[in-house]
Amino acid sequence: MNAQQGTDEVVVNLDTPGPVISRHIYGHFAEHLGRCIYEGFWVGEDSEIDNVDGIRSDVVAALRGLKIPNLRWPGGCFADEYHWMDGIGPRQDRPRMVNTHWGDVVENNHFGTHEFMKLCELLNTEPYISANVGSGTVRETSEWVEYLTRGDDAPMSQLRSQHGQTEPWSVKFFGIGNEPWGCGGRMTAEQYVALARQHATYARDHGHNSLYRIAAGASDDDYAWTETLMKHLTQGLGDRAPSDIFQAISFHFYTFSGGWADKGHATEFSRDEYWNTIAKAQQITRILRGHTAVMDAYDPHQTVGLALDEWGTWWNVEEGTNPGFLYQQNTMRDALVAAVHFDAFHHFAERLTLANIAQTVNVLQAMVLTDGAELVLTPTYHVFEMSTGHHDAQRLDVRPRTPSGMTSPGKHTEHTKVNVSTKDGTLTITAANLDPDTAQEVTLDLRGGTISGLRGRVLHGSDVSDHNTPQAPQAVAPTPYRGATLVPYDRGAELTLSLPPASFVSLSAQLDSH
Ligand code: AHR
Repeated sequence: MNAQQGTDEVVVNLDTPGPVISRHIYGHFAEHLGRCIYEGFWVGEDSEIDNVDGIRSDVVAALRGLKIPNLRWPGGCFADEYHWMDGIGPRQDRPRMVNTHWGDVVENNHFGTHEFMKLCELLNTEPYISANVGSGTVRETSEWVEYLTRGDDAPMSQLRSQHGQTEPWSVKFFGIGNEPWGCGGRMTAEQYVALARQHATYARDHGHNSLYRIAAGASDDDYAWTETLMKHLTQGLGDRAPSDIFQAISFHFYTFSGGWADKGHATEFSRDEYWNTIAKAQQITRILRGHTAVMDAYDPHQTVGLALDEWGTWWNVEEGTNPGFLYQQNTMRDALVAAVHFDAFHHFAERLTLANIAQTVNVLQAMVLTDGAELVLTPTYHVFEMSTGHHDAQRLDVRPRTPSGMTSPGKHTEHTKVNVSTKDGTLTITAANLDPDTAQEVTLDLRGGTISGLRGRVLHGSDVSDHNTPQAPQAVAPTPYRGATLVPYDRGAELTLSLPPASFVSLSAQLDSH
């Protein structure tokens, strides 16, 4: 601890649980992009790398630790040039195509619907499938849903059976296009809405399967796009709820330290660049508030969910790698960016129903990096794993007892993030110290309950730029946490946490309410 310690004091009322934090805000994303699907997940049945039906066993084993609630696929921009029928049937017969968005490489369609659903089964996760609105047809969308979810002898059900899957799958999350204002067709919001209503109409609910249709939304703080969607998607519904056609609308938000042209280096950055990154990440709160306000005006009863189905850090690609493959390293800075997002997500738990970090393996802010048969867990992996206690738990509001904040080059940012939730008698507390140079102390006044069996882990490195490599896979890994002091009092307890610079702490305890 190399600088003067700051102190935060917060109050948590243990007896007034708030809304449920959907586990789906801890969702993930896997696109046909660079080495995410091919090499990352899919190595093929003949590979020397241990696999189950062509899917890497080590990657699956690692990701199961995250209890991934949903996995978005096949894109991203790729979704709008993907024709799902090219990805079924015997692999050697599948047509090939060019992945024009990502590296201009030839895609052999060896990883298709059946392979993705197998991956979901292995990960014990729910699929989130994105339909092709940019270059596909309404019929393709309609038939894909039938193929996936219909159980009788309908044409698509029969085709699925011929390819080895008799039972229909269960699919809830279904995206209608992706970034239609850009790679998904360069449409205006009005054009997209007209097309999206058609696709959503013919994406039918078959049997007991009920789709959660997600309209493709804005970039960052483009509230005008959200407003057009809310206005037109809910038009002509009479007495029906605004969620009659679409159950959610999405938006995307990425974090970097520079601009789109020069996003900054993944592992080599100055303190100014670090704070710029944190300041950019903190904008998620303002942007969530903005989209929520627009949605509230059209849907005051919150029947339509908000889905942040792409978020995360985006750095300049690693030197020597294909610029179209978006491969980047991942440091403790990335982990803290994730912590900033989790904190904001919990605050907007009433409206935010789903979020997906981009992307799971070898692309952007990945959980896992692979190199041949080697596999490395990133710092971001660890903060996801250390936050699983919040999945489907009820939020306990954290209110400051003293003003907090610090001044960094030209900016004022909160330097700690504390999140508390409760589920089935277990209390989960996560705390991040965003300051890379100064230790921080946080005192939680836990009122209205008693806790026992407190235990925790801490994630931090010797510097915020620390990261894991095959040579040093444990450079940033959780260790037992010994920085907590618990002092019970009459109707509660004071819990003081010492947080090292640039750290993330996760604690759990039994909660006995009064
Ligand atoms: O995640 C990478 C890309 O970022 C996605 O394909 C696209 O939707 C977004 O622009």
